Amino acid sequence: MKKKIVVLAGDGIGPEIMTSGVTILKKAVENSEIAFEFEAHPFGGAAIDAKGEPLPEETLTACQQADAILLGAIGGPKWEHAAQTPEQGLLALRKALHLFANIRPISVPNALLPLSPVKEQIVKGTDFVVVRELTSGIYFGEPRHLGEAEAYDTNRYQEDEIRRIIRKAFEIAQDRRKHVLSVDKANVLATSKLWRKIAEEVAQEFPDCTLEHQYVDSAAMRIVQNPTAFDVIVTENLFGDILSDEASVLPGTLGVLPSASHSESGVSLYEPIHGSAPDIAGKNIANPVSMILSASLMLRQSFNMNDEADRIENACFEAMEEGILTKDLGGETTTTAFTEAILEKLK
Ligand code: NAD
Ligand code: IPM
Ligand code: MN
Repeated sequence: MKKKIVVLAGDGIGPEIMTSGVTILKKAVENSEIAFEFEAHPFGGAAIDAKGEPLPEETLTACQQADAILLGAIGGPKWEHAAQTPEQGLLALRKALHLFANIRPISVPNALLPLSPVKEQIVKGTDFVVVRELTSGIYFGEPRHLGEAEAYDTNRYQEDEIRRIIRKAFEIAQDRRKHVLSVDKANVLATSKLWRKIAEEVAQEFPDCTLEHQYVDSAAMRIVQNPTAFDVIVTENLFGDILSDEASVLPGTLGVLPSASHSESGVSLYEPIHGSAPDIAGKNIANPVSMILSASLMLRQSFNMNDEADRIENACFEAMEEGILTKDLGGETTTTAFTEAILEKLK
């Protein structure tokens, strides 16, 4: 069987970590029944430079025809004032592919416990999933306006958009510890009041699971104070963006956590939680683990290749336990040397 993977390396450290991720992916699947074919396309700032726009038509078409998409990261100071920014390209891609469910698993490998900014006894055992709504809310609501003296955005949610993401969270919880925390700001926002009502309704469909609500400010505090308290967190687009960056640094760096974005039935996209890290781009010091684990998440969630995914993940955790660490984790291992170390383990 042949599967086509569209590769969007993007900007900044994107191409560096993508090279690492794809190299390791190829090695891990070389004896598998599924043969992967990789097709690179310009996206983000790189596509603005090459084609004049962040999401060229050919790139979108290739994504629509792919079996899965790997994305590095996009953006950077060079394109901040572009007519269409790389970030707008990313939002347009998510919208066009209907990727409403962004899954961001947060855990802290043993090797990284001492490197966490949170005390080891508090962070040990952290294992939760942020389920972020990705194609609606304030990122997409109209009207929006940027003037000299006034600016506004619109936070808007339709009932069915809320229902499907809450359902997704419960489905994920059913395979885990069966607890969903819905995060909102229902003491202030109308969108959150509707969100909370729908969450209660959806919970009735999942009697084996429990539902709790928490305001976003308080949830942000609890992620640092008691990160082991969570199982599945479900929340709207903007809150999910912020909370997942906060959570993703529990392992000591943004550079180790992957994410998956799913639609109802179409192609899925896999990318690190972090951005293009322009401050360290081109130096061969980026941590590629986030990208490598995004590739292994793809093997699990798009192709049901759990053995291969296990091998990749174990190799990464083992390497980190042996002290093979990139600069963000206090080590001196380069991106390419880390990749070599993982390849060696996969032999
Ligand atoms: P960032 O996530 O790129 O970087 C934040 C900090 O984390 C930086 O100090 C960076 O060096 C570090 N970091 C991130 N990933 C790392 C890795 N793999 N290894 C080592 N260190 C790592 O966030 P930012 O600086 O706010 O944004 C930079 C650009 O990325 C902006 O243009 C932003 O819009 C874009 N961005 C893109 C995505 C995406 O492509 N999905 C996500 C977030 C931000
Ligand atoms: C992310 C990023 C994006 C977002 C930006 C780059 C548009 O921060 O993927 O988390 O806010 O969704
Ligand atoms: Mn983000």
